[in-house]
Amino acid sequence: VPTENIRNFSIIAHIDHGKSTLADKLLQVTGTVPSREMKEQFLDNMDLERERGITIKLQAARMRFMYEDRPYCLNLIDTPGHVDFSYEVSRSLAACEGALLVVDASQGVEAQTLANVYLALENNLEVIPVLNKIDLPGAEPNRVVQEIEEVIGLDCSNAIYCSAKEGIGIKEILNAIVQRIPPPLDSAGRPLRALIFDSYYDAYRGVIVYFRVIDGTVKKGDRILFMASGKDYFADEIGVLSPNQLQVDELYAGEVGYISASIRSVADARVGDTITHYSRKAEESLPGYKEATPMVFCGLFPIDADQFPDLRDALEKLQLNDAALKFEPETSSAMGFGFRCGFLGLLHMEIVQERLEREYNLSLITTAPSVVYRVNCTNGETVECSNPSLLPEPGKRRSVEEPIVKIEMLTPKDYIGSLMELTQERRGDFKEMKYITETRASLTYEMPLAEMVGDFFDQLKSRSKGYASMEYSFIGYKESDLIKLDVLINSEGVEPLSTIVHRDKAYSVGRALTQKLKELIPRQMFKVPIQACIGTKVIASESLSAIRKDVLAKCYGGDISRKKKLLKKQAAGKKRMKAIGKVDVPQEAFMAVLKLE
Ligand code: GTP
Repeated sequence: VPTENIRNFSIIAHIDHGKSTLADKLLQVTGTVPSREMKEQFLDNMDLERERGITIKLQAARMRFMYEDRPYCLNLIDTPGHVDFSYEVSRSLAACEGALLVVDASQGVEAQTLANVYLALENNLEVIPVLNKIDLPGAEPNRVVQEIEEVIGLDCSNAIYCSAKEGIGIKEILNAIVQRIPPPLDSAGRPLRALIFDSYYDAYRGVIVYFRVIDGTVKKGDRILFMASGKDYFADEIGVLSPNQLQVDELYAGEVGYISASIRSVADARVGDTITHYSRKAEESLPGYKEATPMVFCGLFPIDADQFPDLRDALEKLQLNDAALKFEPETSSAMGFGFRCGFLGLLHMEIVQERLEREYNLSLITTAPSVVYRVNCTNGETVECSNPSLLPEPGKRRSVEEPIVKIEMLTPKDYIGSLMELTQERRGDFKEMKYITETRASLTYEMPLAEMVGDFFDQLKSRSKGYASMEYSFIGYKESDLIKLDVLINSEGVEPLSTIVHRDKAYSVGRALTQKLKELIPRQMFKVPIQACIGTKVIASESLSAIRKDVLAKCYGGDISRKKKLLKKQAAGKKRMKAIGKVDVPQEAFMAVLKLE
């Protein structure tokens, strides 16, 4: 296919507005995936993704489409649907000339949509507005079109109304892709530059790299160089995604495809890196490459100390496929041997935990997530601290800085008050409020990331009855009056429960935390004091009274099956406990600090 008949596009949509359903319909209508082979939602092919109903890893698919009797090649590049992965979104948009903006006609513009549309416009993409779900009785496409025009300033005079589910408007969308999205530049004569927008690890073939050729051409057998990592390889196999991998001999500027080159870890072929030829290098790499920086850290400890080597193996395996996952060994007198792990955000953290437990059969205790603090020490050094229990002593630090994010919330006006209250409780700094329509407003705050980690998103949803949406981005570090709060259980310091808080909140957090721990820690055979302290000063304390825990006392007589059941239940309850000194502490207690009233 000549370059002028290629169209590269992606789909921008808020979660649940119908991106996957539309992608499936496009594949079906173009005959790319024969209906009988059609698994539900072809593009989301990770189990975990399907279960959670969200798109995590991006993928690509090539479609053939006849327009005015000429064959066109349409490459759909999928984007992940969560803020943790916004860098991946930006790279896949950079690989396209256009994007479909899919908005649910019964809902309206949401925060995530906005963030991605701005990214697309910054990348000079042609944006085609698509109003989905017009089959729903509550659909108001005309109102939503107006909203898009007012909020984004995008001309919607030729917006397309569709129902991905019913297959209405799909041909119109395909026509619009050909008519309105510009073809790629024909720069096949230049030295090779290809943009990596995704990569994954295959146990048999090594890393498979997905890329868009921006300039030049690449052939099977070529010696290629990754400009950011500096590593070079021979391209054993190249091909296109139709959407299954299909080998070809050569790919030209404008095309999208994959390479397999015996690459051992995705860290060597990072999203955003530029592929060039080893012997005919491009002068400059493509703009926009960024290292993955973990923003959120937590400790992962096996409940059974014997599982430590298994946990290390599992983390190493996951890292082959996840360049953003960072980990290093951590030892704690309370928890034994484990790892301190870094993640892009909370969702990323949950996904990794879940995979470790599910795919690798590990039983883990996870400590509360922490952000990375920057500590200016009295000796002039600046150290980064991602583990509250390792914060330098007060005498050794001059000041502590914490990461600040800008958050934008979109909400129906009825919930403005309660969202303002929520953000104020979380040390949010009000920046701006705008009415985007008569009934919906956008609120902008600057807030410490530490206050957002945890249940902020859940609170935003519950206080707005599910109607508000949000988006955040890191803006920098700021000095703040922060101190370390320690917890003693049965007079023993439990480092994993240490937390860094603002001085003004220390007393209230201390009180709430000890109360919460009292609820969560089961009573023991002896009295257990629970204390919160700043340095050596106790600022709050509670105590668990003793109990004789004889579960069998309840079964009078000799019903043996009932007895077994009770014993089993107790054993299962024990599974997620960590013995700290003489006290069994359940998993929930380690997360208690996130769920204080
Ligand atoms: P993420 O993958 O989480 O980003 O969501 P998504 O945007 O891909 O949404 P998805 O395609 O999974 O659709 C969300 C829900 O909306 C599903 O239950 C679909 O069946 C439904 N849906 C999608 N398109 C339509 C439509 O045109 N009409 C109706 N009535 N429902 C639709």
